[in-house]
Amino acid sequence: MEFEGKVAIVTGGNSGIGEAVAWRFAEGGAKVVIIGNNPETCRAKAEALRAAGHEVAFHAGDVSREADVKAAVDLAVGRFGRLDFAINSAGIYQNQPCTVVDMEADYFDRIVAINLRGIFLSMKYQIAAMLKSGGGSVVNVASGAGIRAVPFASGYVAAKHGVIGLTKTAAYDFGTQGVRVNAICPGLVKTAMTGFLDQLEPEAAAFYFKANTMERIGLPEEIASAAAWLCSEGASFTTGLIMPVDGGYSVK
Ligand SMILES: NC(=O)c1ccc[n+]([C@@H]2O[C@H](COP(=O)([O-])OP(=O)(O)OC[C@H]3O[C@@H](n4cnc5c(N)ncnc54)[C@H](O)[C@@H]3O)[C@@H](O)[C@H]2O)c1
Repeated sequence: MEFEGKVAIVTGGNSGIGEAVAWRFAEGGAKVVIIGNNPETCRAKAEALRAAGHEVAFHAGDVSREADVKAAVDLAVGRFGRLDFAINSAGIYQNQPCTVVDMEADYFDRIVAINLRGIFLSMKYQIAAMLKSGGGSVVNVASGAGIRAVPFASGYVAAKHGVIGLTKTAAYDFGTQGVRVNAICPGLVKTAMTGFLDQLEPEAAAFYFKANTMERIGLPEEIASAAAWLCSEGASFTTGLIMPVDGGYSVK
């Protein structure tokens, strides 16, 4: 198995894209640590993976809190001895549409704290652990909103553009030290975050699907397989890549 003997942290591994990533890496033979801000789903998703015979641990915590992020990395290293991969998927959407004029500063701060500070803190502790393990691979889950504007979502767009900046800079800083850092920019993916689409009439939902060239929504497993490739030997010369996995959203 391609990830036998490896250890992966998945932030947001209790839901959606992160959950699919946790399964993909566990099925590849990796030991997996999940961190998410919902203790019940963290426990349930970890138990489901264990029931399937995988080695899994979880830390229920908030990625915008330094102590929680450090605890998750300490758990990975303490329980499984090393850290090879980190897939940073925890995030929230800006569900209150507004311009910068209308946006409350506290709301902006919250969106940025989880989506950008969370990635900064994650990389800070994950990469430090990877350097002690002889190298590794980080995959940050950004968004199409990291490379394009989305109207009335400036907090989310700013945070996701920031994730791209953090990714490129870390790729530069750790290039000679065996740590590769890449980002995936998903398009529309079927998860809790896009659950509102289920409430729409088919014609209204089609409006969203037609934002990409394939005119459909993506599946979490399609993002997970890109993350797995970025952590594989096949991607050994790939760092600093900002990779759309979006059905062609970014070219339309
Ligand atoms: N679904 C999409 O269409 C889409 C598109 C582009 C980018 N993304 C990005 O993909 C990532 C995963 O989203 P998803 O679609 O799987 O949604 P999701 O809601 O299913 O999963 C989000 C996860 O983040 C976790 N989380 C939220 N706030 C947290 C916090 N403060 N601390 C720790 N964990 C926290 C949640 O527990 C959950 O596990 C996000 O970063 C999102 O911005 C999603």
